[in-house]
Amino acid sequence: MTGTPTSPDIEEAVEAALGKLDLDTKTRLLAGQDMWSLPAVPEIGLESLVMSDGPIGVRGVRWTAGDPSVALPSPTALAATWDPDLARRAGTLLAQEARRKGVHVLLAPTVNLHRSPLGGRHFEAYSEDPFLTGEIGTGYVRGVQSGGVGTTVKHFVANDAETDRFTVNNLVGERALRELYLAPFEAIVENAHPWGIMTAYNSVNGTTMTEHHHLVNEILRGEWGFDGVNVSDWTAARSTVGGIEGGLDLAMPGPDTVYGEALAQAVRDGGVEESTVDEAVRNVLRLAARVGLLEGVAPAVTDLPEAVDSEGLAREIARRAFVLARNEDAALPLRPGTTVALIGAAARDARVLGGGSATVFPDRTVSPLDGLTAALTDGSLSYAVGADPNTELAVADKGFELRAVCRDEAGTVIGTGAAPTGALTWMGTDLPEGVTHDTLHSVELTGTFTPRESGPHTFGIKGTGTFTLTVDGTTHFDAVQRPADDADPFETFFGAPQPRAQAELTAGQPVEVSLTHIVALPEGPGFKSLVFALAHQAPQRDPDELIAEAVAAARAADTAVVVVATTERVESEGFDRKDLRLPGRQDELVHAVAAANPRTVVVVNSGSPVEMPWRDEVAAVLLSWFPGQEGGAALADVLTGAFEPGGRLPTTWGALADAPVTQVVPVGGELPYSEGVFIGYSAWEKAGRTPAYPFGHGLGYTDWTYESVEVHGTTVKVRVRNSGERAGREVVQVYLAPTTPDPDRPARRLAGFAGVTATPGETAEVTVQLPRRAFEIWDEGAWSFVKGSYEIQVGRSITDRRLTATINV
Ligand code: BGC
Repeated sequence: MTGTPTSPDIEEAVEAALGKLDLDTKTRLLAGQDMWSLPAVPEIGLESLVMSDGPIGVRGVRWTAGDPSVALPSPTALAATWDPDLARRAGTLLAQEARRKGVHVLLAPTVNLHRSPLGGRHFEAYSEDPFLTGEIGTGYVRGVQSGGVGTTVKHFVANDAETDRFTVNNLVGERALRELYLAPFEAIVENAHPWGIMTAYNSVNGTTMTEHHHLVNEILRGEWGFDGVNVSDWTAARSTVGGIEGGLDLAMPGPDTVYGEALAQAVRDGGVEESTVDEAVRNVLRLAARVGLLEGVAPAVTDLPEAVDSEGLAREIARRAFVLARNEDAALPLRPGTTVALIGAAARDARVLGGGSATVFPDRTVSPLDGLTAALTDGSLSYAVGADPNTELAVADKGFELRAVCRDEAGTVIGTGAAPTGALTWMGTDLPEGVTHDTLHSVELTGTFTPRESGPHTFGIKGTGTFTLTVDGTTHFDAVQRPADDADPFETFFGAPQPRAQAELTAGQPVEVSLTHIVALPEGPGFKSLVFALAHQAPQRDPDELIAEAVAAARAADTAVVVVATTERVESEGFDRKDLRLPGRQDELVHAVAAANPRTVVVVNSGSPVEMPWRDEVAAVLLSWFPGQEGGAALADVLTGAFEPGGRLPTTWGALADAPVTQVVPVGGELPYSEGVFIGYSAWEKAGRTPAYPFGHGLGYTDWTYESVEVHGTTVKVRVRNSGERAGREVVQVYLAPTTPDPDRPARRLAGFAGVTATPGETAEVTVQLPRRAFEIWDEGAWSFVKGSYEIQVGRSITDRRLTATINV
């Protein structure tokens, strides 16, 4: 059962509960109780509702590797499957995770669009195309809610970049808003009935989204009939009256927000009608009832789906998402008995997910090296680092044994906490037993470090405030570390660690390490979070030597597999990208390896597009996204040919210099979306430029012949034949192009797609129903159906169009 429209029983229970609440309790409920939850109200049988990020896993209320979660592939990867049913299954797994962790509402999915490839959270959104985004988002929301767990579709709306995200005023024309940015939200509201939505930090056309009466009350609720909760993005609510009048139900995190007492007072002063507050409370109670937290009424879902095998599904999604962008002379799959030189830092230390609030902590990750070692058991695998893009320090992890010791002002130990890594993130009341914010004066991360390599090791600090760093008995830093002037307010989460100590260490010989932080949280009420990290970097090898080693390994093997990657400092929440280049000397590495071995396969481990200046020099290019915790196992499945890579590009991959829409930096606080409805492939087509790989592109291990297309009304039937030598899956894409070009309209738009499987020689038929919206434009305040002649173009990508048919509507 999917997220259903509300039931009469739930409405009745909500009204009864609302009638029993006094004003102060109502406004306290809307303010939240802590970082992730709402207060319980036992008088009306309301339990505390817990929310958590999202979208590739369920982190739960604690931000620590000590509370692990399944990590699925990045949202870009999920969209690359072009399979809403697989997205639904992912959602079912996430609901299972949420239940395991006591979470009732998942802060996901992210359905903002890939407007500019520089967007820092590009990896966390699905696509540049609103239709594909809406389809994948619908599947996802249906899946999560079928498990009785709510969703908050985010970030409503036009939160498509990170620079100055709290203040930027995005200037978006009505038409682009309707046809592009609002479209996925609209489709998901209509088709999956999400129980929540999250309003963004940014402003749209002069009004901040947490106060946007027009977009929230008039469009989302009024036109589309959304009956769920509108929760602010974290700390986005700025005005008591503006928020409540603008349709914002929940101001998070609590409890000291613009709601609570301030809202009660506004009602008492006559600035806000109590009925407006009631409307918000009704929405919150309805959500609580749906997820089973309101006594006396059955939750929206009583039949839970069957248990999901998490590792199996994570692995399946990863291989279904990998996009084989190039495969000369059938370089892939690898022939049995092939010797393989695996190269790349990310082949050993896999980058399985993107940074920021989307972070979860899987209890295991399978790296490409792990995956291939398990698959190629005949000793045919060698490994070389080649180039390490991690030029900065990373959170202390491998080799560290740490714990967190809490002391009061007198220096007495008042509690001890686990520290599975060097990152300490304690939010709200999530403190070690016996410790309170009133008594806590300092936290010391202390323990040992056993190096893997001998040489100069660098240690550093991430976070702001007073720190003391001691390594092997020497105190290297005892001072205040401050953020840069232009830092994002969440800099402590996303900022770069600062190198503060260097020590000459010997492999295998443990040394004592200690990082003490003097806690300086704001006095009095207000949300309290304690975030800092001990960072480390192993001795850096000579980069020329590393490349030479990799070249030698490549020369000695039949095939070289080079894994190149972005880093957490490239793709994350909190900042945008500056360019699309692979960090470090990875491009140089690929050029050198390709020159040494004609059978070079490059695996690109990034959540969003990177430039690949070597792509015509190598035999194969496989885009693996951030592949989630089972990524290395899925990679082995695909390289060995046990499965074919099933992905198609959900977004255009091209060089930054050619990309038509790139701007993410506001000028004078404003970011004009001056390209109107032309983003992604529409913009590339309009500009007449050719990207490296177009939207929809992706090869498999078999061939497909497009045999026929028939159109009856708006039903398109396509026959394809598997003309290759092995079974496979094809994504049949249907584009709709007005026959008479209109300069104000994209030349063509994705109007439908369907996946189909067939064995060699087998013919299969797919049926695609063209939605009415594909023929409409937003014109002077209303949807307008554009009559006339259209070409239906069917093919394998936006540029590889195999069949056409003309219709008149
Ligand atoms: C992000 C949201 C996230 C929230 C809670 C914000 O910084 O923009 O996507 O859900 O934090 O972690």
